[in-house]
Amino acid sequence: MPVERSATAFAPGRVNLIGEHTDYNGGLALPFAIAEGVTVRVRAAAGRSSIGGGEGRIVANARDLGEADEFPLRDPPPASGWRAYVRGIVAELARGGCLEVGASLEIAGDVPRGSGLSSSAALEVALALALLELAAGRGDARGELDRMGIARLCARVESEWVGAQTGLLDQLASLYGARETALLIDFQTLAIEAVPLRLDGWRLAVVDSGERHAHASSGYNERRAECRRACEVLGVRSLREATREQVARLPERLRARAQHVLDENERVSAAVVALHAGEMPVLGALLNASHASLRDLYEVSTPTVDATVARLLDRGAAGARMIGGGFGGSVLGLFAPSRALAPGAREVRAGCGARVLARKRRFDRPPSR
Ligand code: GLA
Repeated sequence: MPVERSATAFAPGRVNLIGEHTDYNGGLALPFAIAEGVTVRVRAAAGRSSIGGGEGRIVANARDLGEADEFPLRDPPPASGWRAYVRGIVAELARGGCLEVGASLEIAGDVPRGSGLSSSAALEVALALALLELAAGRGDARGELDRMGIARLCARVESEWVGAQTGLLDQLASLYGARETALLIDFQTLAIEAVPLRLDGWRLAVVDSGERHAHASSGYNERRAECRRACEVLGVRSLREATREQVARLPERLRARAQHVLDENERVSAAVVALHAGEMPVLGALLNASHASLRDLYEVSTPTVDATVARLLDRGAAGARMIGGGFGGSVLGLFAPSRALAPGAREVRAGCGARVLARKRRFDRPPSR
């Protein structure tokens, strides 16, 4: 008797309030999950059902793109674009014994792609959660993976299947987000502390710079390599351990990168204090300082992104900065209650983290006589 099992999961994108390019340096960041995200519905069938592309195959439909993919569950060949994420998550879960039967995947989302709001992390996390829920429905203990485990798996997929050596920022924000809450993440210990995002009428808004970024082909991996090099020169495991005196002795380019990381960690701590104290203008000034540092020391901004930041400030934002990996994407602005949002700016609020929305386990009835 075929048993149909299905699971639906949602994972949000994220906005990083402050703490950019600190995650892979053992530093601090303060992201929050947003309302927009990706929903994945998976259906698997045992027995002779034709769900999926047949035994051991996956059929994936990206509804918003009108595109599809079909590949074997085990050791699928590499692919590019959204297919790389899907194949990577499936392959990693299958390798870990968490996915053993063919399945069909329906993917839909409303995070603009490539805009620095982590549509890719939302896709990875929603996929992993839905597929793991399916495995759990089978009563398979190997289907269990805690949220930190999911974040690591997704980061592995980014690195090995997509070619972007990203940190854990986006996945942790998507997995642990909560309403009206920012997450203070310490990437040295992976401790996550909820920080109330009470803005007293102030608003956070994002504007798309219109410039598309692609981590893999951008300078993201190069920045990571520079930070690793700085650590080697200083003999420390991560830049979190480096002192200002040590950093001052680094060659110029590495010094600039490391100085950004040390300063940005301090800005994250200051932002948490400002939020607790309700000092929004201080938060605005910290956003501005973060952007200047990303532009001048870390060199991951672009003229188009700088112009977008300048436009938000001209329109009365109390602070604005690029968010995400850089080289394009979105800009975040903080607006006082009396100020209208700049044209094109969309308010963002901290929403719930990733979750399973539905699960079903149906036994088909034998045909009636
Ligand atoms: C991207 C990466 C994150 C993080 C940010 C920069 O979003 O995916 O891991 O490094 O860039 O803060």
